[in-house]
Amino acid sequence: MFDKIAKQNILNVGAYVPGKPIEDVKREYGLERVIKLASNENPIGVSPKAVEAMKKYIENLNLYPDGYAYKLREKLSKKLEVNMENLIFGDGTDEVIEMLFLAFVNIGDEVIYGWPSFVEYKRYAGIAGAVSKEIDLTDDYKFDLDEISKSVTEKTKMIFICNPNNPTGTIVKKEDVEKFIKTVRKDVLIIFDEAYFEYAKDDKNYPNSLDYQKMGYRNVITLRTFSKAYGMAGIRIGYGVADKEIIDILERVRLPFNVSVIAQAGAEGAIDDDKHIDDSIRINEAGKKYLYKEFERLGIKFVKTYSNFIYFEMKNAKKIFEEMMKKGVIVRQMGNNNIRVSIGLPDENEQFIKILEGVMKK
Ligand SMILES: Cc1ncc(COP(=O)(O)O)c(C=O)c1O
Repeated sequence: MFDKIAKQNILNVGAYVPGKPIEDVKREYGLERVIKLASNENPIGVSPKAVEAMKKYIENLNLYPDGYAYKLREKLSKKLEVNMENLIFGDGTDEVIEMLFLAFVNIGDEVIYGWPSFVEYKRYAGIAGAVSKEIDLTDDYKFDLDEISKSVTEKTKMIFICNPNNPTGTIVKKEDVEKFIKTVRKDVLIIFDEAYFEYAKDDKNYPNSLDYQKMGYRNVITLRTFSKAYGMAGIRIGYGVADKEIIDILERVRLPFNVSVIAQAGAEGAIDDDKHIDDSIRINEAGKKYLYKEFERLGIKFVKTYSNFIYFEMKNAKKIFEEMMKKGVIVRQMGNNNIRVSIGLPDENEQFIKILEGVMKK
């Protein structure tokens, strides 16, 4: 009955389906040890400096957080070399994506992104009643910037470029992005989702989208998060960097006190810990090398990644995913023929390969 009074476009939007929690899988299959390699979390955990910073605030939670996140804002603006007024914080990057839709997208507007990519672009477009234009990835699993550029119309409001792309781990290159942004109207927002920035940043071909903002492209927006390389997915904090006029518009739809005291403190502590980021990247690189070698040994076709997860081909992906879960390894099924696995600690990667190999032989 209530579906009659619900916003009609929402009825076509599926709820977000997260990877299964470890405790659920343990209970369901009576397992003692379960490894979760399904949500691209950082296997080494939170930075000790972040933990220390958060502990300091644990007894002061009777007070609302600073809605403007002044201290964090000051620190991050120095690190990124942007003005404080160019930042907005969210309850995860997810919330900044939501704010963008709330503030800019009317029913019938077009939103363009590559596909497959991060499912939230699709979901929020559906919630907003926008028209999603999903542009197939290229044969080598990259965002097809030429096709995206061609598909822009009068109605286009936003373009999402997920870089590195989740789930394929691929990047669009600097030279291609430079050509692309020149082709896009100045009143179309080009949103670079750089949730996995830290893993890709040192590659010479990787475009840091903040550079385009600094060059004067006022329609470029950068999204980053503390959930991935910073290891703080459970705390929920991400941010956007954009032109002041865009930030002022987003501020109108931001929930008051959207980022908790603990999240702000944790992010402040984490920013000071370059070693934690370096360690995370080093462990990820080692895991990547190991998994590439093992995939080759098993004759599995995989996509080279610039991130902390690997996308690979697997016939009967659903069955393989389910069988692996029963044996205590949670991965992410992507359609009928692909699986995405997050890169874990060495013993987790070994266990993943052992279970995958066993399940493939069945
Ligand atoms: C591409 C991409 N963007 C954004 C997010 C959301 O990150 P957050 O935890 O900051 O909301 C994710 C999380 O998986 C992601 O993969």
